Amino acid sequence: MKLVPLGVFAVVQLLLGQASVDAVEFDPQVQLVDVSGTHQFQPPGVGDLRGPCPALNALANHGFIPHNGIATIDELVNASMNVFGLGYDLAHLASIYGTAMSVSTDLYHMSIGGPAPRGSTPADADVTLLVNPGGLSTTHVAFEHDSSVTRIDKYIAPDGDASTMSLDLFKKLYYRQQGLPADQVDYNLAILNDHRMQRTFDSLHQNPNFFLSPFAGLMHVGATHALIWQCFANRSAEYPEGRLNRETLLSFYGVEWSHHFTGKHLVYTPGWERIPASWYRRALSDPYTALHTSDDLLAAASQHPDLIDKYSMGGNVNGVDTFIVLEADSLTNGVYKRSELRNDHNLVCLGLIAGLLLSPEYLREYYQDYELNVWPTLMMRLPPLFTDLNCKGLDSVEERLLEMYPGYNLSLGRDIW
Ligand code: HEM
Ligand SMILES: *[C@@H]1O[C@H](CO)[C@@H](O)[C@H](O)[C@H]1NC(C)=O
Ligand SMILES: *[C@@H]1O[C@H](CO)[C@@H](O)[C@H](O)[C@H]1NC(C)=O
Ligand SMILES: *[C@@H]1O[C@H](CO)[C@@H](O)[C@H](O)[C@H]1NC(C)=O
Repeated sequence: MKLVPLGVFAVVQLLLGQASVDAVEFDPQVQLVDVSGTHQFQPPGVGDLRGPCPALNALANHGFIPHNGIATIDELVNASMNVFGLGYDLAHLASIYGTAMSVSTDLYHMSIGGPAPRGSTPADADVTLLVNPGGLSTTHVAFEHDSSVTRIDKYIAPDGDASTMSLDLFKKLYYRQQGLPADQVDYNLAILNDHRMQRTFDSLHQNPNFFLSPFAGLMHVGATHALIWQCFANRSAEYPEGRLNRETLLSFYGVEWSHHFTGKHLVYTPGWERIPASWYRRALSDPYTALHTSDDLLAAASQHPDLIDKYSMGGNVNGVDTFIVLEADSLTNGVYKRSELRNDHNLVCLGLIAGLLLSPEYLREYYQDYELNVWPTLMMRLPPLFTDLNCKGLDSVEERLLEMYPGYNLSLGRDIW
C-alpha cells in the first residue's frame, strides 16, 4: 500500500494556506470553556485511570470524557477537538493509533492510563488479545516516548513509571520564566524548544536505553512540546493566539502553591490536572493540525539544529552518551534523505509513515490475526487524514536497523545483549 496523495488535495492545501493568512478571531462567548455544573472539576477517585497526557487527564476530571478514564475513539476525538481545538487529523490519529497501541479489547475503548481492568471494556468477537489489555501508560516507544516534557524516561524512572509527572522536571520548565512580571509571562514555543533541547540532553546523558523512534523523534516529542503553548494558552482580545501564564500552566499540570510555615512551595497531586476557571480555548476556526505541527517542528529545528541533525531518530547503543543517528536514507532506502528532512513536510511525513509501517512490530504481539483487523483499519483510516501534507509515498522501512538500539528491543520485550 502506498501513501500517495491525490492531485486534488494539492489544491485544497493551497486554499487552506490562503485562509490561514487571516488573523485569528477571538470570541469570548464561544471560546470560554465552562467548567461549572456537569463539567466541574472532580478529582479522580479510587479506580479512576489517569496517565501520561495532561490534556486527557484534565478532560476526564471535568467529565468531557468519562471520569473513570476509559473513553471511546469518538469521545476522545470530540473532546480533543471541542475543548482544546486539536485538528481533525491529529485528534483522529492520536485516538485511533493510541487505541490500537493500548491493547484494546474492542479497538474502540482506550484507557488513558494504566491497564483497563479485565471486563471494564466491552469484548469484540473479532478481537482476540495475545496479552493483557493495556492503556496509554503501557505504550512505551509505540506511542509514549523518551525525552517527554515532564515525564521521566521509562527505563530510568522509579518503578518504570513514565506516566506520572516528575515535579522536578516540571519545575525546570516553570522556572524558565523566573523573575518575569506576571503580565509578561508566556511559555511560548521558543521557551518550550529550549526545554526540549534540555530534555534531549537529559535522556542522552542519563538513559542508557534512550531511544527515539521515527514517530517520536520526528514528530511526537516536538508536537507535545508545542501543544503546551498551542492548546493550553489562554486566549483573549489582546492575545487571540494565546498567552500561557503561570497559573494556567500550573493548573493543567495539577500543580499548586502550598503555603507552609517554612515558606511556599509547589505541590503536585498526580491526576489532578485541571482546566482553570475563566480559560478561553484556541479558536475552533483555527484548529491545531498536522500542518501547524510541521511549522512548529521546523521552527524548533532552526532554533536548535541539533534536534534534527543529531538527535532526531536513533538512540544510545552502548550506555549513556553513545547516541547513533538512525539515518533516514537507510531507513527508507533513499526515499527520504537526512539532507531533505527540512523540506516540505518531510518531518511530519516520515514520522507518520515510518510510525505506521513499524506499528505491526507491536500489533503482532498484541492482537491475534492483527493483519486481518487492526492493521488494515489503521492503513485505511490514518493515511487519508494527511493527504494535505502531500507526503512522498513509502512502501516499507528497514526495521532491522532499529535492532541496534537496546531501547527499541526492550520495548518489544526482546532480549538485549
Ligand atoms: C486525542 C487524544 C490524545 C491522546 C491519545 C494523547 C496521548 C498522549 C500520550 C501517549 C502522551 C505521552 C507522550 C510522552 O511520552 O511524552 C501525551 C503527552 C502529552 N499530550 Fe496528549 N494525547 C491526546 C490529546 C492531547 C491534546 C488535545 C493535547 C492538548 C494540549 C495534548 C497535550 C499533551 C502534552 C502537552 C503532553 C506532554 C506531557 C508531558 O510530558 O508533560 N494531548 N499525550
Ligand atoms: C462533543 O463535545 C461537546 C463539547 O464538549 C459536547 O457538548 C458533546 O456532548 C460531545 N458529543 C459527544 C457525542 O460526545
Ligand atoms: C484569560 O485571559 C482573560 C483576559 O485577559 C483573563 O480575564 C482570564 O483570567 C485569563 N484566564 C486564565 C486562566 O488565565
Ligand atoms: C535486538 O534483538 C535482535 C533480534 O532478537 C538481536 O539480533 C539484536 O542483537 C538485539 N539488539 C540489542 C542491542 O541487543
